[in-house]
Amino acid sequence: MEANGFGLQNFPELKNDTFLRAAWGEETDYTPVWCMRQAGRYLPEFRETRAAQDFFSTCRSPEACCELTLQPLRRFPLDAAIIFSDILVVPQALGMEVIMVPGKGPSFPEPLREERDLERLRDPAAVVSELGYVFQAITLTRQQLAGRVPLIGFAGAPWTLMTYMIEGGSSSTMAQAKRWLYQRPQASHKLLGTLTDALVPYLIGQVAAGAQALQLFESHAGHLGSELFGKFALPYIRDVAKRVKAGLQKAGLAPVPMIIFAKDGHFALEELAQSGYEVVGLDWTVAPKKARERVGKMVTLQGNLDPCALYASEEEIGRLVQQMLDEFGPQRYIANLGHGLYPDMDPEHVGAFVDAVHKHSRLLRQN
Ligand code: CP3
Repeated sequence: MEANGFGLQNFPELKNDTFLRAAWGEETDYTPVWCMRQAGRYLPEFRETRAAQDFFSTCRSPEACCELTLQPLRRFPLDAAIIFSDILVVPQALGMEVIMVPGKGPSFPEPLREERDLERLRDPAAVVSELGYVFQAITLTRQQLAGRVPLIGFAGAPWTLMTYMIEGGSSSTMAQAKRWLYQRPQASHKLLGTLTDALVPYLIGQVAAGAQALQLFESHAGHLGSELFGKFALPYIRDVAKRVKAGLQKAGLAPVPMIIFAKDGHFALEELAQSGYEVVGLDWTVAPKKARERVGKMVTLQGNLDPCALYASEEEIGRLVQQMLDEFGPQRYIANLGHGLYPDMDPEHVGAFVDAVHKHSRLLRQN
């Protein structure tokens, strides 16, 4: 994609392709592992790097994003890196103000209230030029990774971004966003369509910049039952995969595996497995064996240890990992947590999790 000029780099050769092989459904010698929010406040070095700056200024600094992305890899033998950024840079690029309030979370001073507020949004085609700083962060990080492991790019899925843009921040009920779905279905589809139109070139741009896999976070799937999910989330999730794949091909870029993580979207597992993604991420509420039965053998599964299991002793973490690996089986599987790490988690226990996955998955293959 020549639009952002990042398509022609010569990146260092990849030394560990275990994560990519598992994502494509190829056999691996052991189970690859990474953690959602692996770059985060549970690391003292992260808190130090982040301390001086506001959150979205950090997101706009390619050097800071690169440093934060690499920090967990210096400590743990993870099999993938995920670029440090945030899903809310897309609403920002569409013209909305978003601030990160320490201790409270993201906040939109002027959320979307009325249908006519949609007119405030910029043309989604402008998003790519607004988000050049993310592409720069990806290119720099891919260089600095020196081929150690693949780099994952990501974005929030349309419904999850819509909830923030209407609620103005986190919400326990999503009542305002869901009110739109029931009272203004057409305006809701218009907004979801605008977000999809922004996400497609954004994700293609991430690959052009050096991302070797993409994860779409539908973190608020659980607020929709299967009916609303089928109407307002799934069609856009499908559309993103289809259009990103077509766009990569059109731009002459090699395909990358795509991961869909719909948190609490257990009711739609079968549909997600057929939505055009190579990998389906599972949160910790889903039983691995049942998930495998439901999705069949055609997708790779990713997940799903309860993040709070990292509060347990290292011995207990080892036992839980062993159980998880036994249930998922050795192939077509990427180990991860069922959601992100929390700031009060012990880095040592994250290391114990990663080591247990590597150790037990090699043992599994010997039997
Ligand atoms: O290591 C990684 O996983 C990559 C970095 C990453 C961040 N945000 C950094 C971040 C990723 C993948 C995200 C995605 C993201 N952002 C999601 C989807 C994933 C999920 O958690 O469901 C969502 C919903 C957001 C929006 C968001 N950003 C929230 C709700 C918060 C929490 C606010 C808080 O104070 O806890 C953030 C902030 C954020 N994004 C942090 C990090 C490391 C913590 C804030 C900080 O560093 O000051």
